Amino acid sequence: MADEPNMTARRSDRWFRDGGMRQFAHRQRAQQMGFDRSEFLGRPVVAILNTWSDLSPCHAHLRERAADVARGITRAGGFAVELPALSLGEVMVKPTTMLYRNMLAMEAEELLRSHPIDAAVLLGGCDKTVPGLLMGAISMGLPAIVVPAGPMLSGHWRGRTLGAGTHTRMYWDEKQAGNVGDDDWVELEGVMTRSPGTCQTMGTASTMTLLAEAMGFTLPGAASIPAMDSAHRRMAYRAGARAVALADGGIAPGAIATERAFGNAAHVLAAIGGSTNAAVHLAALAGRAGVDLPGDLIDAAARRTPLLANLFPAGTHLMADFFRAGGLPALMRRLDDRLDGDAPTVAGGTLADGYRDAECWDDDVIRPLSNPVSDAPPLAQLRGNLAPGGAIMKPTAATPALLEHSGPAIVFDGPADMRARIDDPDLDVTPDSVLVLRGGGPLGGPGMPEWGNLPIPRKLLKRGVRDMLRLSDARMSGTHGGTCVLHVVPESAAGGPLAALRDGDRVTLSLSARRLDVALSDAQIAERLEGHRPPAPPARGFARLYAAHVGQADTGCDFDFLLGAGAPEPAIF
Ligand code: FES
Repeated sequence: MADEPNMTARRSDRWFRDGGMRQFAHRQRAQQMGFDRSEFLGRPVVAILNTWSDLSPCHAHLRERAADVARGITRAGGFAVELPALSLGEVMVKPTTMLYRNMLAMEAEELLRSHPIDAAVLLGGCDKTVPGLLMGAISMGLPAIVVPAGPMLSGHWRGRTLGAGTHTRMYWDEKQAGNVGDDDWVELEGVMTRSPGTCQTMGTASTMTLLAEAMGFTLPGAASIPAMDSAHRRMAYRAGARAVALADGGIAPGAIATERAFGNAAHVLAAIGGSTNAAVHLAALAGRAGVDLPGDLIDAAARRTPLLANLFPAGTHLMADFFRAGGLPALMRRLDDRLDGDAPTVAGGTLADGYRDAECWDDDVIRPLSNPVSDAPPLAQLRGNLAPGGAIMKPTAATPALLEHSGPAIVFDGPADMRARIDDPDLDVTPDSVLVLRGGGPLGGPGMPEWGNLPIPRKLLKRGVRDMLRLSDARMSGTHGGTCVLHVVPESAAGGPLAALRDGDRVTLSLSARRLDVALSDAQIAERLEGHRPPAPPARGFARLYAAHVGQADTGCDFDFLLGAGAPEPAIF
């Protein structure tokens, strides 16, 4: 035992230090892997939870980053162990990664609980991975630091700047309208997503990594660094070293994810013009942390804080420009009077320590409060007789003329029905129609897929129409724009009023009143809902567990049995 550098009592000691037969076996098995006793005995064990896989393009570099993190852990005197976790590549996973976010959260929690681990570094970025990893870490309660995957290289084509997701949909619409040819389409395939890293627009990945930083879960400035920048490797190294310090009584995730952190996240969400998906993930994180969020938290922040980050889809730049302009620290400095700068972070100081001296180097990319990107609120939460439990939209990415709009509904029951009829030349649709897709909620999808950005009917695209009022209980990709009302609660599969809607019913959106209504009385809605039946549960597997336990969007779509934190430590026999 003379080679032990530190005799501090740690969680991992239960596996490695005590004198029983089991502890002998654990040391024996560590040596079986080639680790010398001096590498792990008496050292804090820091887990690197890595969401790398060959089918997660946004995380293609995370094996190398894990090595950088491990370098930092080792140099700081820790013992680095890498554990693979569900990768959840957003575009590849079907029917939707959202079906599996809770699986990743469970996996992260149980990986941390069941192994000899004192602290964790969480490697993720693609949409569901950061919320999933953090949900698990909060519930387990071990100190954890997030290393965001970082945005991919910017896209360019024929002199134009292109963003992943945003321009895929934009050029698809142009192709449907006959303005983009087959050869152009093939060319576009190779120029938009040029490197490992997350979508370089203000999609859900950028939103959630920036919010993780705003809540205090990363080193200052970490979430803005492009994946391929050498600064990203150095940040990973420093995060590893910092995790070693956290392993000995460092701040637990539940002490980071407090009411003040969610308040800060809401203002940053508004200022970055972040994804509507953040509403679901923040609610889920709050559920794990035991924080009771006000129902209008995001709306209230967005009424006060305008859109400052001029990034696609609401603006015109990409994440590399945001980084060059000073990144999140520069933006947060501009929000100083709205933020609780005394909130703690995993870096060891306060949130304000990370942005107090930050400079902004480009006032067009990160606007001053006196010159926001848009006068519209960045996000809005709605209620009404179509959404008694709420709905959300992103007015800055919408068509201003549609923000106060009434029109007849055209109702699609799920994506198959929508695909079968949306381009039918006989579809009775005008630019004033309201396209409705139901059956896209957590139960209906199942998994609440990103179906809410319904395509514009081809016959209207050919007439030059590029936006219509669209309404759904599904979600929408954060990289997409349009006048889309999303996350209607309760969803139609749970018997929400959306299930009562029929073609021709008059639907009204009023952003100014934050209302979403149909011209039906409560009695008419109730009568139409008589005899409504939820869909049959999935036959087997995780989808069946999901359907039995998932909550609605306003509570974060978490499982009822995973709310909160705390479970007994495993017995070691
Ligand atoms: Fe992974 Fe967009 S597909 S971040």
